[in-house]
Amino acid sequence: MAYDKMRLGVCYYPEHWPEDWWADDARRMAEMGLSRVRIGEFAWSRIEPESGCFDWAWLDRAVETLQAAGHGIIMGTPTATPPKWLVNRMQDMVPLDAGGRPRGFGSRRHYCFSHAGYRKEAARIATAMAERYGAHPAIVAWQIDNEYGCHDTVVSYSPAAAEAFRLWLEGRYGSIRALNAAWGNVFWSMEYRSFAEIDPPNLTVTEPNPAHMLDFRRFSSDQVAAFHQAQADIVRAHSPGRDIIHNFMGFFTEFDHHVLGRDVDVASWDSYPLGFLEQFWFSAEEKQAYLRQGHPDIAAFHHDLYRGCANGRWSVMEQQPGPVNWAAYNPAPLPGMVRLWTLEAMAHGAELVSYFRWRQAPFAQEQMHAGLLRPDRSDDQGAIEAQQAAADIDGIGPLGPPPRSVALIFSYESAWVTDTQPQGRGFSALRLAFEMYSALRRRGLDIDIVAPDAVLEGYAIIVMPCMPIVPEELVDRLRGFAGPVLIGPRSGSKTESFSIPERLPPGPLQRLLPMRVNRVESLRPGHVEAGDGFAIAHWLEHIETELPVEDALNDGRGVVFRSDRMRYLAGWPDAALLDKLVRRMVAEARLPTLDWPEGVRVRRAGELCFAFNYSSGEARLPIGDDTDFIIGGGAMAPAAVAVWRG
Ligand code: GAL
Repeated sequence: MAYDKMRLGVCYYPEHWPEDWWADDARRMAEMGLSRVRIGEFAWSRIEPESGCFDWAWLDRAVETLQAAGHGIIMGTPTATPPKWLVNRMQDMVPLDAGGRPRGFGSRRHYCFSHAGYRKEAARIATAMAERYGAHPAIVAWQIDNEYGCHDTVVSYSPAAAEAFRLWLEGRYGSIRALNAAWGNVFWSMEYRSFAEIDPPNLTVTEPNPAHMLDFRRFSSDQVAAFHQAQADIVRAHSPGRDIIHNFMGFFTEFDHHVLGRDVDVASWDSYPLGFLEQFWFSAEEKQAYLRQGHPDIAAFHHDLYRGCANGRWSVMEQQPGPVNWAAYNPAPLPGMVRLWTLEAMAHGAELVSYFRWRQAPFAQEQMHAGLLRPDRSDDQGAIEAQQAAADIDGIGPLGPPPRSVALIFSYESAWVTDTQPQGRGFSALRLAFEMYSALRRRGLDIDIVAPDAVLEGYAIIVMPCMPIVPEELVDRLRGFAGPVLIGPRSGSKTESFSIPERLPPGPLQRLLPMRVNRVESLRPGHVEAGDGFAIAHWLEHIETELPVEDALNDGRGVVFRSDRMRYLAGWPDAALLDKLVRRMVAEARLPTLDWPEGVRVRRAGELCFAFNYSSGEARLPIGDDTDFIIGGGAMAPAAVAVWRG
């Protein structure tokens, strides 16, 4: 269902707490302004303690208790945590890692997506749950499984996966000759005589054939989608009118979320801005500057990415409420950040922000992970801020339609290509997409991150940061686009079967940009190639073309080439070059922008503008004193939010 006003919710584990706390918990949630509660997703051992023996009574009572307090329930299917009796019975259901070792029982996600026996069990437990609760009036949505791929579990090298991979390859290529030709297996005598001879690409002496790798990634992604679909079909049949949801992760590209997104009603994701800042590629300076806020573009990047995955409907299923336990270092958010993250999700069009978790668990793996409440049931900072956010959301009211301004094209396959063949350590299509997104957002632009087959009409600017495999039909659509287009390095550099295109890169993009990439080089950290007020690091392409050069290195070599509305960027840009490019495109597209202070980010929704101060100092908005503020004002303290009509 589409909400006209964003709701707040929480992840709750009734099985972790004495039953005589439940009613009080449910009441306090409602008082705090929460109205959605996700339960059940890890409770298999309590729902079915022995094979075939179900204990529904406790879960029935938990559902009733939450319903009585007015909550809508998001019920999880518990397939991320198969119980011990099941693993004992089907020992080969666990995934094998790249070294061929089983990934054992004792945490979670110990199942292989390709294991037919486990798929049956997943369907069985999903059916049992959907039959029991599908028609219950308190159930408003279902979360299928939990975070597919978490803890590195998309890829499995089990015998079940190997067998399924062979069938998948046969379906794709039809004949072994066609596969040998597509992969280039004449190289190093890698030719196969039948599909039965092909193994997954692990345990090879040196690197496997990248075409073999890419197909294994495509196959593994398809296995996740098929696993999901089986449960989604079951739940839909028993629970009509309820949303099917999955909770995606941050900076995670192991399966194609655009494909899986076709089979959910709402794409949700789990937002841990401080954990992500610590765990990903950010510099030591950025980690220090945004220690307690998270990088200002981390949450928004994912909001704008997942909005493009399920026809615009999306949520935050897990919102960081305080320090987490899983990053290398786990600082506490600045006071105000939990509220800020909540309202920022609202500004980007979320239907729901649900905090993870209600109360910190004093036991087991996540005992150092904050909840809204402390283990002794007292309110932690997160609870106070959730309540503030609830009041703010009421004050702001329903939002108008989201803006259409910049489309940033991203494909999951691009990330698989650059992961498989970085050619310079750390080259990542995802990272380049993030850096370009960040440059656009620093100028205050509203961005949709879209799949390559998305409708491009209505946008003012298109950016395609790095897309090695470019479908011909996308080239046609880009050709028909009337505004400025920026195409980044390595785009068009590979064929569908991971070879260099016959006419050299940028392959099919030569129809838009008459040029050839004659050579590429990757550069070690610390080495830069300087231009006028900017530098190229990490990656540089040598281009042959008659096209005019817009930006060149100091030695005269071109790095930005222009053909009508199209630009090609032949290297990994620094922030200064990206800023130049964004300013040019903004001027060409005649988009209004302002110079926003460092660390401040903005987002429009209908007639409202939101601003968020991620910096650790006070910021002053470049807007007049007569502005009609609904929340906050022009002088923003750290972690402050301002909302105005404009
Ligand atoms: C998510 C997961 C939750 C919990 C949380 C901790 O990845 O879905 O179950 O583990 O992280 O931050």
